[in-house]
Amino acid sequence: MSNPSLLILPGDGIGQEVMAEVRRVIDWFGAKRDMHFDVSEDLVGGAAYDKHGTPLHDDTMAKAQEVDAVLLGAVGGPAYDDLDFSVKPERGLLRLRKEMDLFANLRPAQCFDALADFSSLKKELVAGLDIMIVRELTSGVYFGEPRGIHMEDNMRVGINTQRYTEAEIERGARAAFDMAMKRSKKLCSMEKANVMESGILWRDVVTEVHADYPEVELSHMYADNGAMQLVRAPKQFDVIYTDNLFGDILSDCAAMLTGSLGMLPSASLGAPMANGRPKAMYEPVHGSAPDITGQGKANPIACILSFAMALRYSFDQGDEATRIETAIEKVLADGVRTGDLLGDEDTVAVSTSGMTDAILAALDASL
Ligand code: IPM
Ligand code: MG
Repeated sequence: MSNPSLLILPGDGIGQEVMAEVRRVIDWFGAKRDMHFDVSEDLVGGAAYDKHGTPLHDDTMAKAQEVDAVLLGAVGGPAYDDLDFSVKPERGLLRLRKEMDLFANLRPAQCFDALADFSSLKKELVAGLDIMIVRELTSGVYFGEPRGIHMEDNMRVGINTQRYTEAEIERGARAAFDMAMKRSKKLCSMEKANVMESGILWRDVVTEVHADYPEVELSHMYADNGAMQLVRAPKQFDVIYTDNLFGDILSDCAAMLTGSLGMLPSASLGAPMANGRPKAMYEPVHGSAPDITGQGKANPIACILSFAMALRYSFDQGDEATRIETAIEKVLADGVRTGDLLGDEDTVAVSTSGMTDAILAALDASL
């Protein structure tokens, strides 16, 4: 049998640096766990635009459709801010999500004990925090038609459309209920049913799907209240299911509760392929961080944890994913810190590659 295939798309800014560290972790699994991947690498975002004049070349799109999993770093940067909307780096990422039909975006927000002091909230509110946001990723206002900017009565009008079919709401809801069944069987669905018809439909469909998951305790919340509750008492939540735009905002909010955006991975999953694995792309939640690019300051943990999610969700290697997560917990408990996490006493400042050195040493010690 051939090795599982991975397509690495480092993208822009710190995406390139953190992905170089992930490759070291992938190599570790080859050398020490006899787990081998066929790894290929390609361009996305500004890096692809510089070479091809498009943020995602058709050949790269085709490769992404063929591999077992895609690992993406980050896209965007000030050099590309003035590009036409249609070729902005973000369009490359959105095309991957849309054409691979990655409708279920899993965004865990987990607070590592060693970092509880780092949150902008009081330690007792976030210690032990472990939330999973399931964000619908291929529909809603990100993709709805009509869209655009046009003239009406000599005035420019900007239009985007929030549109959801019941099938789209339902398949995401099933992913969220399945996730709840594997965790504490609690699901909170968030929308704005008080002002949006798409929110009314959302609430109806989620309630209908609930009939197939009677063990799950389902609640509904308006998304604005959800934002407020996330910063008031985040531990009341376990799994949250919400739409593309609310999910974008609420997941940044949840992420920051944990202390650093540099810590959080994500998985975007679609329907099963012929080999039974889901279509999948894994990416850190942080962006390309142009302010620290090229200085060895980036935190590689989010990207390494994204590879751990790939092991769990694409390759059925949950124990090996846990091995990575435990190694990272240990390194943090030992006080090893990249620049984004400095500040408390008894910590050792390390560079991007220094953090990986520590993680690989902890992985060695786990054998
Ligand atoms: C995210 C990002 C993207 C989004 C951008 C880069 C297009 O913010 O993954 O959360 O808005 O979905
Ligand atoms: Mg976002």
